[in-house]
Amino acid sequence: MSRASRPDDLRFAQEVLGLSTRAVHAGEPRTATGPLDPPLVLSSAFAFADAETAAGAFRGENDAYVYGRWGTPTVEALESKIAALEGGEAAVATASGMAAISGTLLTLCGAGDHVVAPRSIYGESARLLRERLPKLGIAATFVDGTSIAAYAEAIRPTTRVLYAETPANPVLAVTDLAALARLARERGLTSIADNTFATPACQRPLGLGIDVVVHSMTKALCGHGDAIGGMIVSSAELRERFADTVVKGLGAVLAPLNAFLIGRGVRTLGLRMERASASALAIARWLAVRDGVARVHYPGLAEHPGHAVAVRQMHAFGALLSFELVGGVEAGRRVLDRVRLVSHAVSLGDVRSLITHPASTTASTMSPEDRLAAGIGDGLLRLSVGIEDAGDLIADLEQALGRGAPTLQS
Ligand SMILES: Cc1ncc(COP(=O)(O)O)c(C=O)c1O
Repeated sequence: MSRASRPDDLRFAQEVLGLSTRAVHAGEPRTATGPLDPPLVLSSAFAFADAETAAGAFRGENDAYVYGRWGTPTVEALESKIAALEGGEAAVATASGMAAISGTLLTLCGAGDHVVAPRSIYGESARLLRERLPKLGIAATFVDGTSIAAYAEAIRPTTRVLYAETPANPVLAVTDLAALARLARERGLTSIADNTFATPACQRPLGLGIDVVVHSMTKALCGHGDAIGGMIVSSAELRERFADTVVKGLGAVLAPLNAFLIGRGVRTLGLRMERASASALAIARWLAVRDGVARVHYPGLAEHPGHAVAVRQMHAFGALLSFELVGGVEAGRRVLDRVRLVSHAVSLGDVRSLITHPASTTASTMSPEDRLAAGIGDGLLRLSVGIEDAGDLIADLEQALGRGAPTLQS
């Protein structure tokens, strides 16, 4: 089997079509006859046309399919689709979001190198930079991700990467991506942005000058909570380095079945994010004036400190918000135990709404001091808004926040 017969509609998709059209069509077969869906190819090995093709594939002289860890048609179809959505030259899929994050850093950095990253960041990414990479001699400095001056001050002669996650997990801190990209260019560094929260439907960091986008596709790209996966989007040149190190070498390959499921989810990304963003804004506005809520974090609110930057760099403000309850941890746990329609579960970006208590779950590996510095209070709840009717979600939250007995939703 050869890649040569695969129609390559990536350029066409990027230059002419809107995001939802790309989400449906990019990376999909566009032949006159045959299946409309990308075929689900589960084979771990591929037959060679002849001995010379096999030898040439190992010399890197042709692009024949060889082995599942080197690339498969189903995974490549998804790579083309996500590259088209992010406006990137190329993409490589990984086994999970953490594989994409750890893999990009391990490809770009070695012993003696240094990374600058924001303090407010997904807990496991923080742990990677704080605990795991230092064991390999890769150091990190954590800064206020909303301050480009703080990034600049933290740069050392050994710095290789400026890392961003925006809006950031879980307090939705916003980093100015265009300014960060400029700083990285000026100092000869590589900029990486985790675009999991926003998705390309709401924000496209490569268009703002960022070099590499990483994703947990487990979240809104998949959208249905049934597959773990990651993606790295970059230049074609960097893609080859990431694919060689992360997938071929470290073995963090995305399973074709997961690629198939995620690809199916991505087709409705535009619709889902439009709906979830509108509902999240309505819920954030409702929470902001409700008794018992001390603070609401949502970049779509005018009072959010990152609102002005978010307006500049985002097309919509996304499905995630968090809010701090008066009454701290007890008040937070009470809401978790009383929600009926919203599910108390980790993860985010699903069609169904999910609520978590970061301090005792996703951010529990951080020290109390680090959590405080990242703005994660004991009474903070993170809400991932799904595609249910906003009125029903508000009614569920109202009864969960209320004083009476919990009521069942119809
Ligand atoms: C912003 C962000 N990046 C990366 C990850 C890691 O993704 P995965 O669970 O697919 O490894 C997560 C997981 O919650 C996340 O929230």
